[in-house]
Amino acid sequence: MKTSISPAPLADQKKDALIVFFQGSEVLLPAGNTVLKKRATDYAKNSAFKGEAGQIAIFPLPEKTPARQLIVAGLGENRSFHNALLEQAAASAVRAGRAAGLKSFAMAAGIKLKGVSESDYQLLAGRGACWGTYEFSTFKSDRKKKAVPTLTFAGAVKDRNAIKHAEAQGASLLSTADLANLPGNEAPPAKIAEWAKAMAKENGLSCQVLGKAELSRKGCGAILSVAQGSAQDAKMIILRHSGTNKKAKPIVLVGKTVTFDSGGISLKPGKGMGWMRYDKCGGMAVLTAMQMIARMNVKVPVVGILGAAENMPGSNAIRPGDIIKAFNGKTIEVLNTDAEGRLVLADAIGLASEMKPAAIVDLATLTGACLVALGSAASAILGNDQKLVDKLIDSGATAGERLWQLPLYKDYTDEMKSDFADLSNLGKSGGAGTATAAAFLQEFVPEGIPWAHLDIAGTAWLEAAKPYQAPGATLFGARLLTQWIANQ
Ligand code: BES
Ligand code: ZN
Ligand code: ZN
Repeated sequence: MKTSISPAPLADQKKDALIVFFQGSEVLLPAGNTVLKKRATDYAKNSAFKGEAGQIAIFPLPEKTPARQLIVAGLGENRSFHNALLEQAAASAVRAGRAAGLKSFAMAAGIKLKGVSESDYQLLAGRGACWGTYEFSTFKSDRKKKAVPTLTFAGAVKDRNAIKHAEAQGASLLSTADLANLPGNEAPPAKIAEWAKAMAKENGLSCQVLGKAELSRKGCGAILSVAQGSAQDAKMIILRHSGTNKKAKPIVLVGKTVTFDSGGISLKPGKGMGWMRYDKCGGMAVLTAMQMIARMNVKVPVVGILGAAENMPGSNAIRPGDIIKAFNGKTIEVLNTDAEGRLVLADAIGLASEMKPAAIVDLATLTGACLVALGSAASAILGNDQKLVDKLIDSGATAGERLWQLPLYKDYTDEMKSDFADLSNLGKSGGAGTATAAAFLQEFVPEGIPWAHLDIAGTAWLEAAKPYQAPGATLFGARLLTQWIANQ
């Protein structure tokens, strides 16, 4: 989406559509838009549009006004507002407008919204508008190249950076979404590595890829064990943003990048297995965040590590009961080959720990239990450092990506002990699946390194269409990681 700023009031913009937000019955427009305000309120009053979250309506504007259509987008009532609703409303408005053939959009440069600063509004609404243009059409034979739509922020703007960032972040989301939505046959680990290399080159990042031989030399027996039943080799993909603050220790972002999770010998049931092409979405969020960080010239050094492997039940596949050794020397009894994400992460976190990190944050579609606990309303966060957890929760609230903390009691660590090896990859009791998985990961983080784990199993993709997005990857995590890192 091409984004610009125009000092003239919204009603004077000669565009295909003006986008106006409503919080319930209250129209959100800055002073000086009296006529438009009244018009929008009247339209809404005489229609089924109630300003509810996710609600959209398009009204034609009178011939004599500069713009052609008015798109109203609901944020819901004030008491249930959270920032994602603004980003989604902007995306829904643009999606509905594009479906109606509209190409140029304008919205107010600032609105009064409790708890949302002018620059937060511009970032959320601008990024959402970009996301609203996304379409996964790679495999549609009849796909047509549509003209790049435009978005104008109308009115005075104090700081132009937020709008620039909205455009840069929107572009990063769009480019990674095309990779994240690829099915397993089209996006094996080697393809993700090639994509990462090209992206790094374009954005001034460095990229190193460890293949099977290097991983085996380094003793990364955990990720290798996941890939051994697949014809596709594992890859550990390491991206580096050096930043201007050379003295600072790097923040390391780690992403589970299982390109397809069949469950392995502990095969998953057939129903819905196709969605396991999205088991790479932790890595996809890290790739997107790295691209955003590079484009925003963030000060601090950041490393992104993607542990990429395919989990398949080949004749060479790992068996339940097998014992393997991870990079940090700990042995693991693999009781369920479907608990493969934690194995991939064990080695990725092990490697991250050797980089003298300021903090490690990992993202993974790790447990079905997380969906049971939180559904798609939030991702789970667990960690060993409350300050880090709090900062990430705060960043998530600002960036429109909600996190909810779960505890990391020692009880869960005890559940992950094995009778035959140092650790088991399966909890003894079977309860608290999200927390026991996190307790397992904690075994690979040396004492003294702040670490947080985000379980994005319920938030990484949408299975049914919403007004703001078609089914597919959401890239949950990229926005909050960038929000957190850009404000270091
Ligand atoms: N990738 C899955 C987790 C998952 C399930 C993500 C559903 C999104 C939706 C993961 O590898 C897995 O299979 N975990 C097992 C762990 C269990 C065997 C301890 C699970 O959650 O059932
Ligand atoms: Zn699995
Ligand atoms: Zn998995």
